[in-house]
Parts: sequence; structure tokens; C-alpha cells
Amino acid sequence: MKGIVLAGGLGTRLMPLTKVTNKHLLPVYNRPMIYFPIETMVEGGIRDILVVTGGSNAGDFLRLLGNGKQFGLSHLNYTYQEGEGGIAEALSLARDFAEDERIVVLLGDNIIGGSIGNAVRAFEAQPGGAKIFLKRVPDAHRFGVATVEGDRVVAIEEKPANPQSDLAVVGIYMYDSSVFDIIQTLKPSGRGELEITDVNNSFISSGAMTFEVLDCWWTDAGTSFDSLLRAANMVASWVKEGHVRP
Ligand code: DAU
Repeated sequence: MKGIVLAGGLGTRLMPLTKVTNKHLLPVYNRPMIYFPIETMVEGGIRDILVVTGGSNAGDFLRLLGNGKQFGLSHLNYTYQEGEGGIAEALSLARDFAEDERIVVLLGDNIIGGSIGNAVRAFEAQPGGAKIFLKRVPDAHRFGVATVEGDRVVAIEEKPANPQSDLAVVGIYMYDSSVFDIIQTLKPSGRGELEITDVNNSFISSGAMTFEVLDCWWTDAGTSFDSLLRAANMVASWVKEGHVRP
């Protein structure tokens, strides 16, 4: 399986912190934000990784990450998203890289305190389709929100005013290669973006979506000053408890 880290977008919600740098290069306690999803990939056994970036500071990713030596990699791939057309648009840029293999996609501002390794293996064993991760949260309106019936997700709503559950959709997605055909059918949402939630609802409609409830902590560091501060505090506690990644 190949891995894709999405680190495009313009980070406007974190201005002026993002005026002269990319959101994913900002510090989260002891590391730049982008380190976390790359470490999660590598720890989960994914070694062929594409970073999708954008904005005016894309060259800084190359200076920071190089060929991924600090993660134990011998090579990293990069591509560039013009503008801010949405998570699904950023993912569409990975089509050639994916070469019909299954992929795991991590949002560059999502940080978890655990492993995706078991889920990667479970997805490899499923016939095809997609897998997402859910997490119970007190503020579901900030996220994609899933409605679950029995062992199936039946719908996802993007940032609903009145969430139907407290199950947020985490920014970790696993797809088979049909994801790229699905993205081609999407229309921009009200906020002018190609939405990953529309991709996921398409897999749900065809009965090809599985899910897991994430059993470790998760935080989205990039949506506000408070989320950036919360992420730094969570990582600080985690590091001080003695958790380290290779
Ligand atoms: O954090 C999980 C949530 O992420 C999910 O629950 C939502 O369903 C999903 O839509 C997403 O919501 P956000 O509004 O938080 O996404 P955001 O615009 O912050 O983008 C998340 C990451 O995706 C960002 O760190 C970089 C990447 N991205 C985003 C956009 C809009 C791109 O690479 N290109 C883009 O154009």
C-alpha cells in the first residue's frame, strides 16, 4: 500500500502564523506538524509516501524533509496543489503516484497517539472499497460526522449544525484505486471545495465502506489557534509520559 500526506491549502484560519510559512511546518510542541503524519505512516509499515503541498513556501518542505532520512526512508515523493480546491482535489493529484495500488491518506494536520498498522493490514485483507476511522468527540459539528447503524456507516455529513451523532470522521482514509474515478465525478461544495466527505459517501452508497473506532487519542491541529495549542499540549503530555516514535 502507498501513503499520501495532504499538506496543501493556504492555512488562512491560522493567519498571521501562516503568512510566511505553510501551516504544516508550524511547531507542535517538539516537531513540525508534518512530522506526525509521516511518522504515523512509517510506523504503520508504509514506506512509499507522497507529500502533496501548496502555497508559496512549498520549497521549505524539501529543505525540511529531504528524502525522509530522519524517518528511516530512502526516498520521498512530492507534488504541488495550486490554490485550495479541497482535500479531494489534493488527493486527485496522487493518481499517477498510486499506480492502481491501494492507498492510505493522512491529513497533514491530524495527529494520533497510536498506530495504524493493524488497520492497514485489515484493509489489505478486505476485498476492496474504503475504510475510515471514527472517534467520539464533544464538538462533532467541527468535523465530518458519521451516522452508524449496527456495524455499518450509513451516512456522513460535513460539519453539520445539528450533528446526528458524536462520531467524528478522523483524517485517515484508506481507499482502493476506484477513489480517483469517484473524485472525477465530484462537484465543488458550498465552500468551493471538492469534499472528501462526498468521496466517502460514494463508497458508503455502494456498500464498500468499513470503519473502525480509533482506540487512541486524536487531534486536528490546524483549524484554529486553540486546536494548535491543544495539539501541542497533547503531544507534550504524551512525550513526557515516555512515548517515542522511531
Ligand atoms: O480533521 C478531520 C476533518 O478534516 C474531517 O472530519 C472532515 O470531514 C474533513 O473535511 C476535514 O475538515 P477540515 O475543515 O478540518 O479540513 P481542512 O480544510 O483543515 O484540511 C485538512 C487538511 O487537508 C489540511 O491540513 C491540508 C489538506 N488540504 C486541505 C485543503 C482544503 C489540502 O491538501 N488541500 C486543500 O485544498
